[in-house]
Amino acid sequence: MDGAARLHYQGQELKLPMVEPTVGDWGIDISRLRADLGLITVDRGFGNTSQNPSSVSFVNGEQGTLSYRGYPIEELAGRVGFLEVAWLLLYGDLPSSSQLDRFEEEIRDFCDVAAYMETFLDAFPEASNPMTTLAAGVLSMVGRHPGASQTSKPEMWERATLILLAELPMLAALINRRCLGLAPIKIRTDLPYTARFYHTALAESESSPAPDPQRLAVLDMLELLHSDHGQNCSSSAVQLVGSGRASIFASIAAGINALSGPLHGGANQRVLGMLQEIQEEGGDVAQALDRAKDRSDPFRLMGFGHRVYRNYDPRARIIKEAAAEVLAGLGTEDPLLQLAQELESAALADEYFEKRMLYPNVDFYSGFLYRALGFPTEMFTVLFAIGRLPGWLSHWREMASDPKSRIFRPRQVYVGQTERRLEDRP
Ligand code: ACO
Repeated sequence: MDGAARLHYQGQELKLPMVEPTVGDWGIDISRLRADLGLITVDRGFGNTSQNPSSVSFVNGEQGTLSYRGYPIEELAGRVGFLEVAWLLLYGDLPSSSQLDRFEEEIRDFCDVAAYMETFLDAFPEASNPMTTLAAGVLSMVGRHPGASQTSKPEMWERATLILLAELPMLAALINRRCLGLAPIKIRTDLPYTARFYHTALAESESSPAPDPQRLAVLDMLELLHSDHGQNCSSSAVQLVGSGRASIFASIAAGINALSGPLHGGANQRVLGMLQEIQEEGGDVAQALDRAKDRSDPFRLMGFGHRVYRNYDPRARIIKEAAAEVLAGLGTEDPLLQLAQELESAALADEYFEKRMLYPNVDFYSGFLYRALGFPTEMFTVLFAIGRLPGWLSHWREMASDPKSRIFRPRQVYVGQTERRLEDRP
């Protein structure tokens, strides 16, 4: 046997080469299917489709595990910093301390963007959605950095990577200040990566003390836990746009827009709203589950379910524990946390959720921590985007440097009208 899969169709046989993973699902290469048999595949939502091989992160949905470049997230969370993980995702290994220092410095060189960003943000109405503003701000980088926008020059990818890692969190921090009605602030470029973001986002003034290390550690860990997740919706959007050789900035803006949807990163904002609503209606968890199970009701349990996980999302497990610990440590109580835990227990014991293997995902508990750290709900998905940026960049670069990479251009099974003539018009 040659190890290929075989497809028999109308008396013909097609050998389909197998693509071997280091771990996880094998792939069947169907790229000759149309040329040899005149067939295309149908795969709604790409549930069975792999676009290009990747070595950035691995999600084992059955076991409920996630690793970055081979490191399980449990190994990394709380033990290395977000910027180290950004380097790991981008370059394949954890950085040495001198590499990390240099990385920090290079990013710092691009951070002082408050003057430009404030003018840019003035153009947006006060009620603008923070994710829309973030995407537009990233898109505006194309004009300010024409050199780094050139996709044909791989040496420019590095520059664009540093610019985005520097500017996106600063833009996000300034958007946060507007959400909270805080006056503009000068960016403290002397502070390290996560502290700089936190300070710019929430400090009363430039001279306010550097953020509390405990809070910073929580924020840094949250960003780390969001930093990559295989071929998810937004990473695929980044690659789809990038596959047409659009600039990194335009591709990342597409990723931000994809992330904003309520079925993807936007769910993190909706969880607290959902819990609030349940509480206001008397805290009846069973009634909420009934609504989630009712097909005629659009209500879904936000922060529950996942395309890949058929087990507890490992990020949710870490975040859930941290939420309980951190809230206790900060001496803050969040009455909705208990309700969230009750809802989780009831859902996990319910046949509907059990049968469909629906568990809490990364978005179910993260809002409790973001809120405890002082961020308003409308900023939660922006915080997710800051975390996911290294993953988006890594996937863009991986795709762009793969010589076999092609423009993403799905086929279609056409089910519309057959040819019509104007004279047949009724
Ligand atoms: N509440 C109630 N039922 C659900 C939920 C939910 N949260 N999630 C899935 N289901 C049901 C579906 O109705 C479907 O039932 P059926 O088999 O009777 O038709 C079954 O479980 C399978 O669900 P699909 O929607 O087909 O799964 P899919 O992989 O397409 O969607 C998704 C995954 C979008 C995450 C879905 O679970 C969902 O909408 N969850 C709520 C939103 C959410 O939390 N999104 C964040 C995901 S994590 C992230 O992107 C960062």
